[in-house]
Amino acid sequence: MRTIDWVDGCPQIVDQTALPDDVRLVSLSTVDAVVDAIRRLAVRGAPALGVAGAMGVALAAKLGSDVDDAVRRIRAARPTAVNLAWGVDRAAAYLPDGPEAVLAEALAIRDGELAASLEMGRRGGDLLQELAGEHIRVLTHCNTGGLATVEYGTALAAVRSLYERGCLAEVLVSESRPLLQGARLTAWELGESGIAHRLIADSAGPFLMARGQVDAVVLGADRICANGDVVNKIGTYAHALGAQAAGIPFVVVAPESTVDVATKSGADVDIEDRDGSELLEFAGRHTAPYDTVALNPAFDVTPYALVTAIVTDARVIRLDRGDRL
Ligand code: MRU
Repeated sequence: MRTIDWVDGCPQIVDQTALPDDVRLVSLSTVDAVVDAIRRLAVRGAPALGVAGAMGVALAAKLGSDVDDAVRRIRAARPTAVNLAWGVDRAAAYLPDGPEAVLAEALAIRDGELAASLEMGRRGGDLLQELAGEHIRVLTHCNTGGLATVEYGTALAAVRSLYERGCLAEVLVSESRPLLQGARLTAWELGESGIAHRLIADSAGPFLMARGQVDAVVLGADRICANGDVVNKIGTYAHALGAQAAGIPFVVVAPESTVDVATKSGADVDIEDRDGSELLEFAGRHTAPYDTVALNPAFDVTPYALVTAIVTDARVIRLDRGDRL
């Protein structure tokens, strides 16, 4: 099943807020619905956001009213993953050619991300085998599977390829607080595929690496800067520090659409601060005193010096060997 597609004249998504309880398909028939779905993470993950952005522009072009405003609102719905602006801009460039041309570009972006996932799976699997052998215990963070792309995934596509080769021992899934993309989405995807996995608290990652229970960390990115800094889900940096201390590979798998050479380093990236309620409440209950103020950055920056390699659909960049983007 595709996470996002164009069905009956509008984008259709798997609503990721309903998982793991419910696999719910939702049609986004207005620009407001597209913006809302992006903001509340009903559609999420960098490559899926690129496709959602492009399809949102295609929808706006088809509906025809105040397209410039629609483009601006969709582009600004979330700031950190470069794919969203990239997808919006690619589709919007075809606005002068009419709605059909915009849609054709959005569908080309969808197909490109699908092909990229397959390529990343193969290249990522090869590299992980080279770095960590034939019986690999992997730690991953957030969700980088089919749900974060169109199908298959980025880092999770590489993990799946290890599984298919018989080289995967286990996946440790970091829960990814506060919105639990690891627990709700990655554990669900791995379970559906019958891939052995255990859920861990985010803060357990570096300790488990130190104790020799992880052979490699593999995860995705929302933006890869010109100097190789990796912007990804909050908690990634702690796993990178843990990997460095334990002397194990830290591998980032992301499509070329996530590489942003126009941004020099992680210091230049707009990191999304999300509502404090995501930290202060759980399942409708307060988890802190009522007057507590929360600070809730959704992403962090892992300096390039902590990254062993970046695998894209087109290349493997061995930062540990001095390769640069
Ligand atoms: O806030 P999210 O769930 O959109 O964050 C997603 C991530 O951080 C993923 O790791 C990243 O987009 C890579 S997805 C293949």
